[in-house]
Amino acid sequence: MSEHEFKGIIGQPLDRVDGPLKVSGQATYAADWRGTTPHLIGYIVESPVAKGRITSIDTKAAESCEGVRAVVTHENAPSQIPFGERDKGGRFAQSHAVMRSNEVRHLGYPVALVVADTLEQARHAALLVKVEIDAQDGIFNPETHEDQAKAPDGLDGSDEVDTEDGDFEAEYASAGHRVEGEFHTPSQHAAAMEPHATVAEWDGDKLTVHMSIQILSDGRKAFANTFDIKPEDVHIVAPFIGGGFGSKLGVHNEAILAAHGAKLTGQPVRIAQHRRNVFSNGPHRPRHRQRLKLGADENGKILAIHHDALSIMARDYPFAEAAASPTRASYATKAMRTQHRVVEGDIPKADSMRAPGEAVGTLTFESMIDELAHSCGVDPVEFRVRNEPEMDPHSGKPFSTRKMRRCLQEGAEKFGWQGPVSRREGNWLIGHGMAAAIRPNLMQPAEAEIELSTDGHLTVRLDMTDIGTGTYTILTQIAAETMGVAPEHVTVKLGDTDFPETCGSGGSFGAGSTGTAVADAAKSLKDDLLQRAAKADGEWKGANSKDLRIEGANIVLGSRSLPISELGERSGGLSAKGAAKPGKEHDTMAQYSYGAQFAEVAVDAVTGEIRLRRLTGVFDAGRILNEKTARSQLMGGMIFGIGAALMEESLMDERYGAFMNRDLAEYHIAVNRDVPQLDIHMVEGFDENSNPLGSKGIGELGICGAGPAIANAVFAATGHRVRKFPIHMEHLLESLPPLDG
Ligand code: MOS
Repeated sequence: MSEHEFKGIIGQPLDRVDGPLKVSGQATYAADWRGTTPHLIGYIVESPVAKGRITSIDTKAAESCEGVRAVVTHENAPSQIPFGERDKGGRFAQSHAVMRSNEVRHLGYPVALVVADTLEQARHAALLVKVEIDAQDGIFNPETHEDQAKAPDGLDGSDEVDTEDGDFEAEYASAGHRVEGEFHTPSQHAAAMEPHATVAEWDGDKLTVHMSIQILSDGRKAFANTFDIKPEDVHIVAPFIGGGFGSKLGVHNEAILAAHGAKLTGQPVRIAQHRRNVFSNGPHRPRHRQRLKLGADENGKILAIHHDALSIMARDYPFAEAAASPTRASYATKAMRTQHRVVEGDIPKADSMRAPGEAVGTLTFESMIDELAHSCGVDPVEFRVRNEPEMDPHSGKPFSTRKMRRCLQEGAEKFGWQGPVSRREGNWLIGHGMAAAIRPNLMQPAEAEIELSTDGHLTVRLDMTDIGTGTYTILTQIAAETMGVAPEHVTVKLGDTDFPETCGSGGSFGAGSTGTAVADAAKSLKDDLLQRAAKADGEWKGANSKDLRIEGANIVLGSRSLPISELGERSGGLSAKGAAKPGKEHDTMAQYSYGAQFAEVAVDAVTGEIRLRRLTGVFDAGRILNEKTARSQLMGGMIFGIGAALMEESLMDERYGAFMNRDLAEYHIAVNRDVPQLDIHMVEGFDENSNPLGSKGIGELGICGAGPAIANAVFAATGHRVRKFPIHMEHLLESLPPLDG
């Protein structure tokens, strides 16, 4: 708080402005949309094989069912640009053709879409579609096909694919303390509460879609690239989104299929994926194998870091998760080598999910760092402090702000850290562990507009989304504070491609990027208003606009005051536009947000059951825009971290390429019973190099560090070094004490 005063509305724990709409059921999610024309329901028929060619498909029985209006297959689907062929603007904008040919891309891939009056009719008819597929062997596991591994063209986040600084082999050989390990992390599904859903409608060549999507501007291009139409002819509406976590960054099969159905029937078509669909027709985080080798000298200074990652990529869909990338900015070292390899496989889309890169990469790396600290006989907190880099170890760039030391020290204090405690309480083995968190701080271009109506109300518009993060609320605060009015005077409208274009929600860049655009628009409008007021006839002849200010929806000069509504009325409404783009500091500086997490676990000495008892996180995310929504973001992230350590995994039957646990009964996420009271602290700051608001990305930060803190606590409790996530009780059995012990 020293260099900047935060007395305004920004930062206040304002309740969600969209909360009342949500709890009263008035927030319209994609599948809630009801247009003026009655719409039809689409139901996806999924391929039972992962790879092959459809040799015949018989839809007659399905078509003759009551209520069925169309059965879409590759034989009658509208014309499309091949999948991935037209890809200006990256994977979210690329052509996303579905059922363009007889090719099956993965298990669960749509082979037909039944469109009927009701869901029941469509679902029944779907059972009657007969499809024959000439099946081929597929690739599902990158390790069994490592001979086909290649360096991806790029990494998610456009990092360098491989890096080599210094002489790793020489430094590692000279290191007095060496640790190494091979880790496995599983495929995971985002498991958003709202499954992907779309209502599509054509008007000639113009397409309107109500859908659940995080980035509208890219989605618009994806439809245009798929159907060979102009982006301006695609209208996406997405005012409310029931969770995304990366799984809705782009357009998925159901969205294209809804457009197919609408084209063939001439009516709006709705497809709401059921949960099993989401596990095949939604994206997932790919499985990884990572290998780590770390070396340190006798004083506990890191000398050498090697981190490589092998993963799997869906065909023609260029997503390579940057698992070893966060390692590059984590610790001072003499030598460092990082490497990413991928194998193309016959799997549903592998894509970004909740802190892509860090969620798997720091999970393993921070576990290995704990092992290295242990080998050096140095307390893990002290070890990290000792190896804090003064500048970015790989690029040599200065850090914008880096309060890692403070996070580590405050975290230790809040948690009551006394080293990696291990003790026994009856049948429970107690362990303490900790880990550091790091997550890139990104900024993206965004535009916004703000309008003053004749009654004095302010409306902000931009195609940004609120995926449950609190965007509506923080943008309201930013507009209100910039204008000098109370939040009640501002309405924020989001999620419509008719509004100014933004980067949408992703990569934790949404708040800073779009908030800056909103602040810029509000500042323009305010300047305009003050200038108009200064020139207003009568009242303030000769006044200088610089002496005026807005206070409580009035323009004020000394004892004189003029309601802004009056200026709105006189001018028939006023508006202004604003924009934001990353400053040069995003090139010249290394920008990250940081944290430190501390965990206490209890492991049942007989069964190996793991219970998380406490989790403390201290985070540096720059200026906090809303204390309440920021805390919720961190809390959600920490809960994902618990899931990554202990529960979440999408299991595949590798004979068939089939994800097996395709529902929330069998895909386990951390639930209330798994989550203790979380202790969350924010190290307030202002990163002027990040954006004019001083904020840094927060959405994905909480997940970083939580998982490895738990894994390190499990080690303290049991002596078992985790190499495979999630940690199962049976992994611990051999490390548990003898039964009568
Ligand atoms: Mo995030 S995984 O970029 O929504």
